[in-house]
Amino acid sequence: MKTDMPNREPIIAALNRILEHEMAGVVRYTHYSLMVFGFSRIPVVNWFRSAASETLAHAVAAGEMITLIGGYPSLGIGPLLETHHHDLREMLRESMDFEIQGVDLYKQLLRLAEDAGSITIEEYARQKIAEEAMHIGDIDKMLRRPGNITQAVKTEAP
Ligand SMILES: [Fe+2]
Repeated sequence: MKTDMPNREPIIAALNRILEHEMAGVVRYTHYSLMVFGFSRIPVVNWFRSAASETLAHAVAAGEMITLIGGYPSLGIGPLLETHHHDLREMLRESMDFEIQGVDLYKQLLRLAEDAGSITIEEYARQKIAEEAMHIGDIDKMLRRPGNITQAVKTEAP
């Protein structure tokens, strides 16, 4: 890939924001997985651990895109948890907010990639938007009361 692509610097900056966001997610989901108590502990712990692994894979993918176009991957990390909510419903609500912020970051990247005419980065951003939307959908389903098929949180069309 040419390194003189238009919008290269803003694209690297957008990818670094994604990398930092995903790294914060790894810490967040790992922390949540340590703070689950009660009857549903075992499956919920596993769900948070798998979310942490998937989020790490997303961070790595963002880093690989950065080095692909000759950028330097950030060693920073996005904002960590400010709240100390350990009620499962609150942890899931915070997780959903976190995932929605992630989709916004990938959408910003998508717009920059479209302007730069980079099909590769565009495709990458679209794929991640779809993956995160499915993740948001999963969280939404966990937030519903049993038997309730309507969305717990009204989000944009997936
Ligand atoms: Fe992610």
